[in-house]
Amino acid sequence: MGRVGRHLIGRLGPTGLADDELEVDIVVGQTCHHATTALGIDIGGSGIKAGIVCGQCGRLVSQRTLMPTPQPATPDLVAAVVADIVGAQAWQGPVGVTFPGLILDGVAIVGVNLDPAWRGRDVAALLSSDRVKATVLNDADAAGLAEARFGAARGVAGVVIVLTFGSGIGSAMLLDGRLIPNAELGHLELDGEDVQDLAAAASKDKYHLSFEQWAARVEHYLTFVEFLFSPKLFVLGGGISQDHDQWLPYLHLRTPFKPAELRNDAGIIGAAMAALDGQVKAPA
Ligand code: BGC
Repeated sequence: MGRVGRHLIGRLGPTGLADDELEVDIVVGQTCHHATTALGIDIGGSGIKAGIVCGQCGRLVSQRTLMPTPQPATPDLVAAVVADIVGAQAWQGPVGVTFPGLILDGVAIVGVNLDPAWRGRDVAALLSSDRVKATVLNDADAAGLAEARFGAARGVAGVVIVLTFGSGIGSAMLLDGRLIPNAELGHLELDGEDVQDLAAAASKDKYHLSFEQWAARVEHYLTFVEFLFSPKLFVLGGGISQDHDQWLPYLHLRTPFKPAELRNDAGIIGAAMAALDGQVKAPA
């Protein structure tokens, strides 16, 4: 892809965050004709990332925009940032949004890393407007969809489990490339504890573990998950997958495993795919 211009397309509104100018690099794909695109928005604990994604090849066809997640990350403040991103893009097409917690038919059941006010909120309705309908799904589910379609799990038949190691552990279960949403395997109980507290990437820092020590916990966890589900493949993602050469060599499992391929963009890409293919319900 080549970048052909940098265009000021909007100015952020009164979200209390900034009145920065929002610019987008317009990129033209050499083999991507962008026939079908969706705006993907990835809501994280510290940042909200967004980009326009090609439905055919999964490439970002705009620059990734990054906004800080408002603090406190209340529904109204986050919704204002999302509205600004959509407005700045003058976007009217499909919009997919990730959420770092359980989402059932667009409604937040638990928002572990966000403000408690999210619990029970119809997030899909909150983030939709007259112009756009937002499809909302769990952040790890989005990463899983993206890896299944365009990344490390592409073309793998049977059960694939994608795990994201970050401040928590997110999980996506896929069967023949289709998502089984809200698996929440990061909250399995292992040795009497919520495994997220033992083996998230954040625990490596919290307990001052070396990669080898942390990988031993991850191996213990994955051995349990493979006993329960006998997947065909584990895809291991999250920020720490960038350093996969430092910890994957310590893992010994009967299940094949691979690092995630789409890295930081997996959430944006998966959200856009969910909006395009309707695997996850959007508001009527
Ligand atoms: C939440 C998951 C989420 C993961 C990563 C966990 O604490 O329960 O829903 O996918 O964190 O954000």
